[in-house]
Amino acid sequence: MTISFTKNPTPGKLPESDALGFGKYFTDHMFLMDYSDTDGWHDARIVPFGPVSLSPAAGVLHYGAEVFEGLKAYRRPDGGVQLFRPWENMARLNRSCDRIGLPRINKEDGLQAILELVRADERWVPSEPGTSLYIRPFLYSTNPTLSLHGVFAATFAVILSPSGNYFKNGLEPVSIMVETEDVRAVRGGTGEAKCGGNYAAANRAGDKAAEKGFAQVLWLDGVERKYVEEGGGMNVMFRINGTVVTPMLTGSILPGITRKSCIELLRSWGVSVEERLISVDELFEAAKTGALEEAWCVGTAAVVSPIGELAWGKRKYTINDNRIGPLSQKLYDELTGIQRGTKPDPFGWVCRVC
Ligand code: COI
Repeated sequence: MTISFTKNPTPGKLPESDALGFGKYFTDHMFLMDYSDTDGWHDARIVPFGPVSLSPAAGVLHYGAEVFEGLKAYRRPDGGVQLFRPWENMARLNRSCDRIGLPRINKEDGLQAILELVRADERWVPSEPGTSLYIRPFLYSTNPTLSLHGVFAATFAVILSPSGNYFKNGLEPVSIMVETEDVRAVRGGTGEAKCGGNYAAANRAGDKAAEKGFAQVLWLDGVERKYVEEGGGMNVMFRINGTVVTPMLTGSILPGITRKSCIELLRSWGVSVEERLISVDELFEAAKTGALEEAWCVGTAAVVSPIGELAWGKRKYTINDNRIGPLSQKLYDELTGIQRGTKPDPFGWVCRVC
């Protein structure tokens, strides 16, 4: 694929690393590529970051026809830059496209777009511990018609955001509450696709949880409202009596790449991991008796974030004295070590950018 390049004539000032937060700043350039049913994907270009023009009738605005990904570029100790398992993101993007009826991209082209964009904006990759360049590929319908049938025009875009911790207090444990009214997804719905609609459906519950002082919600399945599914924007794991339990991928849960990597790491250490249904009753019983030794969220943005407090209606339990547990700390250290290039990469997960 040939990518044209238009240099930003007014490059931005790099933010201070302690001001980064998540997703607030954007780099000098973005990648765009258009699709039409007659020409396929065409006009791959890196251009200055800025507003995109869109028909007010565009499918993304009316019917939420959009999918996205999240991955990160890390600064290595030798000054180079690397990505973590970007092939997995490209594969998932295409699976999400299939579910929403958007055109797939060629995975090699998607990766090339990311690599060339990160190289163009390499100076924006921060190096402080806990920081990285968050990469947000997304693909949306630009159909200039209100018709519901078929997507015949679309755009694939990539933007970059130098970011710090997703939760403002970093590795400090967060409090999460079980959501009992709204549901995020149902089987047969779009839960396993990474599409904007899933997150729009989650906003109300997230806001309600924040008002009550919780960092996020813990979703239950949409049918029986009995089984734990995932957190708001990340998967969850629990260490119960020495075994790590994580909700199985039933079709309504996002198949997280950090989730998959943590399972692979844990198993390589000989830790038993069960991917299965876990009911909220079982979880709270384990919290009550102390069998729940550790709990943590996993995601690209969240990395490995310990859960210090779990609430469900009037029931509230503290986990591991509201401190990060030994296994979640080990996972965090190992995963971030591989991602940043401070530890060996025995699984072949990293992809050098430069
Ligand atoms: C990510 O971890 O990359 C995500 O997409 C989560 C985001 C919704 C905050």
